[in-house]
Amino acid sequence: MELELDKQWKTCMKNYWKTGNSSLKVWSTTNAMEAQKIYDIWAPKFDSDLNNDGINIHVEVAKCVTKYGCNNKDAQLLDVAAGTGMVGFCLRKYENFCGQIDILDANMEMLYVASKRGLNFRNIMRHWIDGDLPLTAKSYDVITCIGSFIPRHLPPSTLQNLLKLIKDGGFLIFNGRANLLPYNDELLKMIDQLESEGQMKVVDTMELFYTSDAFLSKLYVCQVPK
Ligand SMILES: C[S@@+](CC[C@H](N)C(=O)[O-])C[C@H]1O[C@@H](n2cnc3c(N)ncnc32)[C@H](O)[C@@H]1O
Repeated sequence: MELELDKQWKTCMKNYWKTGNSSLKVWSTTNAMEAQKIYDIWAPKFDSDLNNDGINIHVEVAKCVTKYGCNNKDAQLLDVAAGTGMVGFCLRKYENFCGQIDILDANMEMLYVASKRGLNFRNIMRHWIDGDLPLTAKSYDVITCIGSFIPRHLPPSTLQNLLKLIKDGGFLIFNGRANLLPYNDELLKMIDQLESEGQMKVVDTMELFYTSDAFLSKLYVCQVPK
């Protein structure tokens, strides 16, 4: 397994030097502020880069929202580290999602792109997550957080902060990336801890590609106890 990941990493770095792919630039940063500076510049091209690369994880997230009964006019959804609003786009376009969508991200340029997509977001919030969020406890039916449980983005402990915002019986949908060690080990530990404490239960997992950069993602659908 490690050898395979090593091979994938080498291919990935070769592509980086060849294409300047910005997602790889984000990974080569050494701190969160540097990563944010890349998003400042990448924002206008982010959607086309991702579309070129395929958006299958976002489509699957939108399908899960419907599958787990959260697609109705009263549904309240929060997309955390929403970037340019790709999850909201897939929800509205492919699932005819008719509930309320709030989006939150640290990066103004990414949120600006999201705001221009005509997706009828209820709230567009700029906030740097580093602990509890300034939002009402138990107010969302579902929280999504895609592509952001990676180094120099959200610490794995953010899962705990997000669970507090979800209504009893609601869902948290997020992904992790096995190639990003040791970060992913910490994420797995946090998932185990939250399950053993009874704060959530993993009800579904899927292996999917976030982009065509050859790295597999694992998508988790977790339910808060009823
Ligand atoms: C790879 S992008 C993913 C965007 C979107 N979820 C998607 O999949 O298209 C990661 C996003 O996480 C945001 N982000 C990173 N660290 C953050 C933090 N601590 N608080 C809030 N947003 C953060 C970045 O600004 C960026 O928009």
